[in-house]
Amino acid sequence: MRWTRAAGRGLLAAAVALAGYAGLGAPSVGQAAHGGGRGPITLVTAGDLTDYLDPVLEDWNRAHPDEPVTLVELPDSADETRAQMVTSLRSGSGRFDVLNIDVAWTSEFAAAGWIAPVEPGRFPLESFLPPVVDTATFGGRLYAVPYVTNAGLLYYRSDVLEAEGEEPPRTWAELERLAKEVAPEHGLEGYAGQFLPYEGLTANATEAVHSAGGSLLGDEGATVTADSAATEEGLRFLVDGVREGWIPQEALGWKEEESRLAFQEGRLLFLRNWPYVYAQANGEDSKVAGRFGAVPLPGPDGPGVSVLGGSNLAVNVRSEHPDTANDLIAYLTGEPVQRRVLTEGSLPPVRADLYSDPELVRAFPYLPTLRRSVLTAEPRPKSPRYDQVSLVVQAVVHDAMAGRQTPGRAVARLARELESVARED
Ligand code: GLC
Repeated sequence: MRWTRAAGRGLLAAAVALAGYAGLGAPSVGQAAHGGGRGPITLVTAGDLTDYLDPVLEDWNRAHPDEPVTLVELPDSADETRAQMVTSLRSGSGRFDVLNIDVAWTSEFAAAGWIAPVEPGRFPLESFLPPVVDTATFGGRLYAVPYVTNAGLLYYRSDVLEAEGEEPPRTWAELERLAKEVAPEHGLEGYAGQFLPYEGLTANATEAVHSAGGSLLGDEGATVTADSAATEEGLRFLVDGVREGWIPQEALGWKEEESRLAFQEGRLLFLRNWPYVYAQANGEDSKVAGRFGAVPLPGPDGPGVSVLGGSNLAVNVRSEHPDTANDLIAYLTGEPVQRRVLTEGSLPPVRADLYSDPELVRAFPYLPTLRRSVLTAEPRPKSPRYDQVSLVVQAVVHDAMAGRQTPGRAVARLARELESVARED
């Protein structure tokens, strides 16, 4: 069946009704079948790269001995995490009660009827940064609660730029010049991001395209907008980097962690990565501790545009203990844990007031930059077929960066393949 908005709503309504969520506040299957909906639960998440979750959940478990939460950590690649969650959800399993899902997947999980609509009044949405609440909604309805937000930053070696009397770059041309000329003089590679074909590459490519004023899809995935000179300009930035050698070839195989290690081993002048890197690269095992800074991503004529990253907490429609699941979400999104998300997890919280908390700004001087980056970040396209959209973007952009296709041809192929996803039966 062709995906249309109306059909989508129909499917959604059917899935929602089947799952026992015909109306807001209606009980879930779990609640109806097991009464009360309280008891032990499981929280599933992508890899906890900063190891902060265990103590947070231990505190919950001490306070809730009859409703303990078990943490299941999946691999640290966004795509593998999604694949494992989807396999479990498709089989109708209630094993994962609370799902910490990438903001990019909310639409797909909601449209498939795997996650339960959230009662908007139950969580203090008004205290969250506005763009993050939008990532948790699909078809005008809230399906998850924002938990962690994210925006790409440009990390730079402040020691090297200071020695050269240079400022951190604000434009692509400045970044290219420094990456081409200054980096080799200091025995460094120029620039890297996350360029392995997976969601990280989709994020990096979308940032380049948006920064150049282009876009990929509109209208919750229904229209394809990729075929433009701006999209080509965005791809050309990445393709030229590899061709001209200021993006190292090996970066075509890097995810977040590989690129972070290259930077903190002192091999890169510039790195595009998420804020968690800030604390890690200042850690004891980092060769660049105290010798780097972070600025907004550059673009063609001035600051560029980050994609909005992060994750939302959702309840599996098959959960047998949805009341406990919702309480855990309230705990994780409440002020005390949100503070720990930043101070112990080095991740950007979703609660707006923390960004201007003087004590936190002193401890995390990049907070104002991060706040600006999150507020100006653009979401990835919302699409019930986002998984396929992302696979197309990854494949095309990786081919172009590897020199197998010119940016012009890559844009034509991108538009053609995205059209076929949008039209798919
Ligand atoms: C980060 C972001 C997430 C993004 C992923 C890509 O985890 O928070 O939104 O999809 O990186 O690798």
